Amino acid sequence: MALDVKIREYHPEDLEQVLELVKELESELEKKFTDVKIKSGINDYRNRYLNPENKYKTFVALVDNKAVGYLMGYPSLGAPEVDNMYDILPISSKWTPPEFFLQIAFVSKPYRNQGISKKLHKEIIKYVKKQGHKEVYACIAKWNIPEIKVIRSLKFKLKDLGYRYRLTLKL
Ligand SMILES: CC(C)(COP(=O)(O)OP(=O)(O)OC[C@H]1O[C@@H](n2cnc3c(N)ncnc32)[C@H](O)[C@@H]1OP(=O)(O)O)[C@@H](O)C(=O)NCCC(=O)NCCS
Repeated sequence: MALDVKIREYHPEDLEQVLELVKELESELEKKFTDVKIKSGINDYRNRYLNPENKYKTFVALVDNKAVGYLMGYPSLGAPEVDNMYDILPISSKWTPPEFFLQIAFVSKPYRNQGISKKLHKEIIKYVKKQGHKEVYACIAKWNIPEIKVIRSLKFKLKDLGYRYRLTLKL
C-alpha cells in the first residue's frame, strides 16, 4: 500500500525531528567517505539553516506526523562563494533573484524509493515558481546516482561539469 505522505513547509517545532534526520545523513556520509572525519553540522542547522530569519527554505515530508525527509534550498545570487558564506536577505518585495538553488535532500533509509524525495522536489518547485524565480538548479556529484535520478525524473536539464552536474529547470 502506498505511504500516506504529507509535504509541507518546515515549522520551528519540527527542529528536533529534522536534527535527527541530519544525524542519520551525517552517519551515512561517514560510512561513504572513509579516511575523513565529517564535522557535525548540527549547530549550523540549529543556528543558521533552520533559523526562520535566514534565507533558507525547507520543506519536510511527514509520515504519521513524523518527519522522514527534508529538502532545503535558497534564493541564489549565482556567486557560489557569496551564496555559501552569507545569508542574503531581501529588504524589499521587489528583490527576487532569477535562480533558486536546491542545497540538500535527505530521506530516511526505510522510507526511500517510494517517491518521497520526488514529492518534496515538486512542492519546492511550486513554491519557487510562486515566488517569481525563473529557474531552479542543483549541483550534484556524479557518484550520487539516486539524487541525479530524482532530479532527472523531474525533467531538469543536465550539464556536465566534470566531477558533477549542474541540473536546471526553467520555470
Ligand atoms: C537521494 C534521496 C533523497 C532520494 O530519496 P527517495 O525518496 O528515495 O527518492 P524517490 O523515491 O522520490 O525517487 C525518485 C526517482 O529516483 C529513482 N531513485 C531513487 N533512489 C534510487 C536509487 N538508489 N537508485 C536508482 N534510482 C533511484 C526512483 O526510482 C524514482 O525514479 P522514477 O520517478 O523514474 O520512478 C535519498 O536516497 C537520500 O536521502 N540519499 C542520501 C542523502 C543524499 O545523498 N542526498 C542528496 C545529496 S545532498
